Amino acid sequence: MTILGIETSCDETAASVVRLTDGRADILSETVRSQIEEHAPYGGVVPEIAARAHAEIADKVVAAALDDSGLSLPELDAIAATSGPGLIGGVMVGMMTGKALALASGRPFIPVNHLEGHALSPRLAEACAFPYMLLLVSGGHCQFIRVDGLGDYQRLGTTIDDAAGEAFDKLAKLLGLGFPGGPAVERTAAGGDEARYKLPRPLLDRDGLDMSFAGLKTAAARIIEAGDLSDQDVSDLCASYQRAIADCLSARADRALEGFDGDRLVVAGGVAANTAIRDALDKVASRHGARLIAPPLRYCTDNAAMIALAGAERLAAGLVPEESLGFAARPRWPLDEKSAAEDPVYGGGKRGAKA
Ligand code: KG4
Ligand code: ZN
Repeated sequence: MTILGIETSCDETAASVVRLTDGRADILSETVRSQIEEHAPYGGVVPEIAARAHAEIADKVVAAALDDSGLSLPELDAIAATSGPGLIGGVMVGMMTGKALALASGRPFIPVNHLEGHALSPRLAEACAFPYMLLLVSGGHCQFIRVDGLGDYQRLGTTIDDAAGEAFDKLAKLLGLGFPGGPAVERTAAGGDEARYKLPRPLLDRDGLDMSFAGLKTAAARIIEAGDLSDQDVSDLCASYQRAIADCLSARADRALEGFDGDRLVVAGGVAANTAIRDALDKVASRHGARLIAPPLRYCTDNAAMIALAGAERLAAGLVPEESLGFAARPRWPLDEKSAAEDPVYGGGKRGAKA
């Protein structure tokens, strides 16, 4: 089964051709065009700029991915594209590109949930069998999800305010460290003392697996406002902040693995690139006799190979919606729709719950 995947939900325009043979994924090509330069002057992703940049380049990125794979459109079994959740203008660009290619080639179109792409991403690199405990930590999401199979997800906990990646991005913005914030904070933390600043670990005294990171940003903002920080102070603050996030995530992971009948903890999403966080999670997993699986970095951050894989697994399982060419892009699309509908912890209103 050979699938073209397209990803445009945030600030990367990406396309990839993936072949799935007996459950094993071969990545035949991947093309990514990042918009970091376009958004850098604003210290964050500007939705309108993102949508326009995707529209200007989506066709070229797809053409390059097809070229690199050595295949032509008629040789594909289907076209998959992220159809939510994400910045809706960008999602629509990638989804419409995918629909147009599907219509032109007479191949099925597979609308893919971006979060399902992240959830399945470890399976790009190894046969990661179900069930596994997933910690999805990105710029937009921070959730513990029990993954029992394709389309079988149970939300166990979520941030109730900011995502962990967002917390990194906000600190970087406050300190003027540049965009994207996570890598900048990690670099700056390298020479810092993580015990220097006492920062909160919100919600850890509560039962359950929910998390909160907004208070951490407020606490850091107060320290920054209070006075001139030397370079060493800034390093110490970044190190203390990173430690607080790592502590919160690993304390929750510890609880998530208590009584879990599987033996794998998967960390996916851009924040999984952070070494301090990976190390903390690795220790927790070992304590529970489990293994930490972190996909290679290029599959942790947004990429199209994970979208192609999710599409291929859906096609193989006969889980492609009928009339998929009529699928409407979704700004919000929780993985565990049942929990999100019954108990919306995060987000709500007209656009629906995020988690
Ligand atoms: O998964 P991703 O590429 O995009 C989505 O949000 O879907 O994740 C991007 C997020 C950003 O918030 C970025 O600051 C964070 O991941 N990030 C990191 C690191 N690299 C990326 N956070 C902490 N440490 C890093 N090394
Ligand atoms: Zn993502």
